[in-house]
Amino acid sequence: MVKICCIGAGYVGGPTMAVIALKCPDIEVVVVDISEPRIAGWNSDRLPIYEPGLDDVVRQCRGRNLSFSTEVHRHVSDADIVFVSVNTPTKTCGLGAGKAADLTYWESAARMIADVSVSDKIVVEKSTVPVKTAEAIEKILSHNTHRRSHGVRYQILSNPEFLAEGTAVADLLSPDRVLIGGRTDTPAGLAAVAALRDVYARWVPPDRILTTNLWSAELSKLAANAFLAQRISSVNAISALCEATGADVAEVAHSVGKDARIGPRFLSASVGFGGSCFQKDILNLVYICECYGLPEVASYWREVIRINDYQKGRFVNRVVASMFNTVAGKKVAVLGFAFKKDTGDTRETPAIDVCKGLLGDKAAVSIYDPQVAGEQVARDLAMNKFDWDHPRHLQPIIITGTDVARQVAVAADAYEAAAEAHAVCILTEWDEFRGLDYKRMFDAMHKPAFIFDGRNVVDVAKLREIGFVVYSIGKPL
Ligand code: NAD
Ligand code: UGA
Repeated sequence: MVKICCIGAGYVGGPTMAVIALKCPDIEVVVVDISEPRIAGWNSDRLPIYEPGLDDVVRQCRGRNLSFSTEVHRHVSDADIVFVSVNTPTKTCGLGAGKAADLTYWESAARMIADVSVSDKIVVEKSTVPVKTAEAIEKILSHNTHRRSHGVRYQILSNPEFLAEGTAVADLLSPDRVLIGGRTDTPAGLAAVAALRDVYARWVPPDRILTTNLWSAELSKLAANAFLAQRISSVNAISALCEATGADVAEVAHSVGKDARIGPRFLSASVGFGGSCFQKDILNLVYICECYGLPEVASYWREVIRINDYQKGRFVNRVVASMFNTVAGKKVAVLGFAFKKDTGDTRETPAIDVCKGLLGDKAAVSIYDPQVAGEQVARDLAMNKFDWDHPRHLQPIIITGTDVARQVAVAADAYEAAAEAHAVCILTEWDEFRGLDYKRMFDAMHKPAFIFDGRNVVDVAKLREIGFVVYSIGKPL
């Protein structure tokens, strides 16, 4: 029986391994993590992450061929294939701070593998890493073998993950592609690629399993995220021009996306993209380009981030300017705090920047999100940029008595958030925000009552009929 161990029980490690366990009942899968609360969550009825369909998959496999454990050393030692799915955040200090990937967690996982291994292993990079990381990992594994692990052979594979949160289970069950990079010029490398291919081949059609060299696989992941984020910054840049000219960004995106060469997906204008990866991976790409002496390429990709920051700032400026240039002391309802719908994840959510902008102008912000707890909101608003991933469960919550504590409230629903408010800002495209009773909200708000729709979920004409002053991204004012 093949044994798989995955180091890192996060948004990627948990769902990915659950689906492998589901589809490969003859493979024993153990997910390990240094975070006890995370592992306790995976072993409970309330999983540590919210992801549609995941409860079902975990329930089917847990106790059969899927388990979650903090006994990292034992399970890594026992495994034939070790996935490494730890966090790879942006460095906050030192060389490359604010851009380069911080590989501290990755390196400590690799050193631990070298310390505890007594049998040959395939080590799989699941985390998103800078191109050429496999070379560094190979060095760590081969130069750091403990006496008792002398002679153990390692094969490193790059198998980046392309799932999106909110649709993780569906993406894993039916991926556009699975990418496996390895030392395809050596027999041992080819055998390792074949072993991993055999795992995925249980449910992924052969033409969707791609094999490349290591560096292509590592770089493809960074490039894919950069291309996706670039599409959003492109449509967001056009949204600003739409507002200036009277064009409607939804109509423009539809017309542009009808071209089969461009395609319709991922062209929704928004308050800006968020999530744990787009920004960090592009910054990482920028840093790599700079290191390889390619400043023009670096600055091309840096613009994608600059436009995203511009879009978030533009949204805050629009709110404040529309409300007679001041929101001081005014209650502003914020609907949605997660970085996208169907997740409780708030990492790099645009809501943090928008709320901080409004708080900076002395607004009183009342936040409602169906999946984000008040404690998380408070933590996010009290934290410095890039600090969220170093590591989350160790961060103290320090908000009592601060401006954030005084100015921020968390509401139980959208109506409570909007009661007595001067404005509503929609920052996440949760389906429930489409079906709200906006007349009821309008009646409970100060007048003029404003709606700023950062996700284009509301029917602008209907809301204007009710009496709202409506601003929607990229729509005629
Ligand atoms: P995460 O923070 O949710 O999970 C990482 C886990 O690794 C944490 O629980 C942490 O405690 C654990 N960990 C760190 N060091 C460890 C060690 N030495 N031993 C054992 N456990 C350790 O992160 P994530 O969102 O799952 O992302 C993981 C990687 O996957 C990142 O490189 C990310 O860029 C990439 N990725 C993420 C997504 C996504 O949707 N979140 C999608 C594709 C790729
Ligand atoms: C993204 C990629 O889609 C995944 O393929 C990749 O594996 C993952 O990053 C990663 O490496 O972490 P994710 O961030 O989970 O997945 O979610 P997306 O659906 O890509 O959305 C990212 C952000 O862009 C969200 O804030 C979303 O609201 C925003 N977005 C998305 C738009 O503003 N407009 C769009 O048209 C699409």
